[in-house]
Amino acid sequence: MKALVLSGGKGTRLRPLTFTCAKQLIPVANKPILGYVLDQVAATGIKKVGVITAPETGQYVEDYVSDGSKWALSVDYISQEPLGLAHAVKTAQPFLAQDSFVMCLGDNVTGQGLNAFVQKFQKERLDALIILKEVDNPSSFGIAQLDNEGNIVRLVEKPKTPMGNLAIIGTYLFSNKVHKAIARIKPSWRGELEITDAVQEMINMGFTVKAEILNSWWLDTGKKDDILSANAKILDEYIERDIKGNVADSTIDGRVKVEASAKVVNSTVRGPCIIGKNALIENSFIGPYTSIGDNSKILNSNLEYCVTLENVIVTDVERLEDSLIGKNAKVTKNQKNRTIKLHIGDYSEVEV
Ligand code: TTP
Repeated sequence: MKALVLSGGKGTRLRPLTFTCAKQLIPVANKPILGYVLDQVAATGIKKVGVITAPETGQYVEDYVSDGSKWALSVDYISQEPLGLAHAVKTAQPFLAQDSFVMCLGDNVTGQGLNAFVQKFQKERLDALIILKEVDNPSSFGIAQLDNEGNIVRLVEKPKTPMGNLAIIGTYLFSNKVHKAIARIKPSWRGELEITDAVQEMINMGFTVKAEILNSWWLDTGKKDDILSANAKILDEYIERDIKGNVADSTIDGRVKVEASAKVVNSTVRGPCIIGKNALIENSFIGPYTSIGDNSKILNSNLEYCVTLENVIVTDVERLEDSLIGKNAKVTKNQKNRTIKLHIGDYSEVEV
């Protein structure tokens, strides 16, 4: 069995960060989301992984994943114009050959590994196993309808009148029969080859398409608020108290990780939180659910529920909340008057 990890796409909802970075590389708890996905793939024992990349951001993904040896994986890169998830499978067909595969989205994280799904798929010799999750707002998702034996009988994209609340989350296991279905489907109204259409076609062709319901959390990090939620969830689940850096005249409360060579001076840090390598926190308060990226400086400021990427500078800001700040960005209070001065990239969002 192989794995196909989708790390292409346009990432329009995360502009401007996606102008200089692939969205799958945006860190939560200071580690790229794609890293958590590859951890879960590696834990299944699968060794061969195809990583789908987009022409604009592919190099960033390759720089991070490299030859895959960090995960003991062998990695093939497959460049794809973002024309849909089924188009990604079609593009990867030479790599996938006749093998079954698990397909994951490089910007989605779940609290449950893939092992149980791989075992079920193999033991029951399925043609497709689609992972679902109960959601409160079914009309925003692709929704699956099941029979009593857990077979999927129908899929509907964003149903106006929901026929259930089981959403497709972006983890799929397929036999090579999926390629036959993809060869028969046409692009949707948005011009993409949709994976839901391919799965529906597999059902129509009489293949065994089963579902499994995820019993842990699932986060799709496609938008800013999703990144902040994923950051909070991962900090909550994984961060233990671990103070390696230098702490002086400061209070560190609860589960806080201060990386080696970071400095916390005359400040309070309340966990769960992570302070990246070589970061400096001075005369500041860092509140729960915040990740401070490597080499960032937070001076005379109060931050809560924030993610700063690398090399960020925040100075004299009384209160910064619910914020995602890109690499090398500076946020400073104008000391002289109350005028707001901005120098921000295309597609940025500022709330004042
Ligand atoms: P989406 O988030 O649905 O698509 P997108 O990346 O184009 O985002 P936006 O709507 O903000 O423009 O994609 C889900 C995942 O699949 C994501 O990790 C990108 C990846 N993907 C591909 O690799 N190839 C594709 O053709 C598409 C559509 C997505």
